[in-house]
Amino acid sequence: MKIETFELERRQSLWENFVDYNLTESGIHPFTLSEFLNDEQIKQLLNVRLGYGQTNGSIALRESVAKLYPTSNIDNILVTNGSAEANFISIWSILESGDEYVLMLPNYMQTWGLAKSFGIKVKPFYLKEDLNWQPDLEELKSLVSSKTKMISVCNPNNPTGSILNDEAVKCIIDLAEESGAYIHSDEVYRGAELDGNEINTFYGQYDKVLAVAGLSKAYSFPGLRMGWLVAPEDIAEKAWSYHDYTSISTGVLSQQIATWALQPEIRNKILERNREMLYENLKIFLDWTEERSDLFHFIPQKAGAMSFVRYFIDINSTDLTERLRKEKSLLIIAGDCFGMDGYLRLGIGSEKEYLIKGLDLLAEMLEELVNI
Ligand SMILES: Cc1ncc(COP(=O)(O)O)c(C=O)c1O
Repeated sequence: MKIETFELERRQSLWENFVDYNLTESGIHPFTLSEFLNDEQIKQLLNVRLGYGQTNGSIALRESVAKLYPTSNIDNILVTNGSAEANFISIWSILESGDEYVLMLPNYMQTWGLAKSFGIKVKPFYLKEDLNWQPDLEELKSLVSSKTKMISVCNPNNPTGSILNDEAVKCIIDLAEESGAYIHSDEVYRGAELDGNEINTFYGQYDKVLAVAGLSKAYSFPGLRMGWLVAPEDIAEKAWSYHDYTSISTGVLSQQIATWALQPEIRNKILERNREMLYENLKIFLDWTEERSDLFHFIPQKAGAMSFVRYFIDINSTDLTERLRKEKSLLIIAGDCFGMDGYLRLGIGSEKEYLIKGLDLLAEMLEELVNI
């Protein structure tokens, strides 16, 4: 099968470890195990038997995940290798070639590329900058019909960091109900809201929701590769049988660490540490763009460590990011990866000094381009 290239991930995979400054990460500076675990827990990890474990996720972990989703229980949960695998299985297990799939754009682009590769008919609706990165609901209504099999959102959104307002959430649920469509909601940035108010999950607001999340972003543990799918029991069970084909199970060490990370007190501490870092770094980035308001238009994200900015320099976004990589050893994501030339996505979740150095390099490049 021929696939669409997943431009965003490809670019990161190729270059993220070969540049001096990598500002492509949409998550927050990861923890080391020693920053996170106590001696007792380390001892426990040393005694974990390295089997396959329960392949849809240990009961303890699924219990912890279920607490984050109203009305769910362990039978609604499939633990996956990252939220990427949960997204993959959501599309693969529900949609057939020819089905209609109404998808929010811009987006992480994983399900966009997958759906296109699987011959699914993708009907995009757009978050609009002049609506503060909210969708145009009339446009959305015109797209959903009785043929729509799934409506897919990324909330909070990657790359804009916006959060759907109540009116948009209601509209999406109403449309899904009318058409009988599933809602697939990628909520991996839930918990990384800058104002500290965690958004409601779509799960529990309508009976055909597949909610996806994991520990990579708000929790800053991408290396654990821990994700999950929360869905009606029959869908969770079906998804599990698809998971038998993708990776069988997730790592038992990761599951144990994830179970600890989701204990309410520890979870709060993690989210708090990350919010503080985000808050401080966003302020740095805001000041930086304000100093250059003739070059940038920036609507600050409401959640997540990615900042999506429009720039006013006459250069294609891929060309600009390639020059940055080659001439400044700085990696950032081009708007082209989201089908939006003229924009850049910068990861601001790194350590402060690292972010400042990366921004200095970007400023150098901009000066060179503007003064040509
Ligand atoms: C919206 C969204 N979903 C899913 C993923 C995949 O993340 P992971 O598999 O690490 O959980 C990402 C990664 O950037 C993302 O931005």
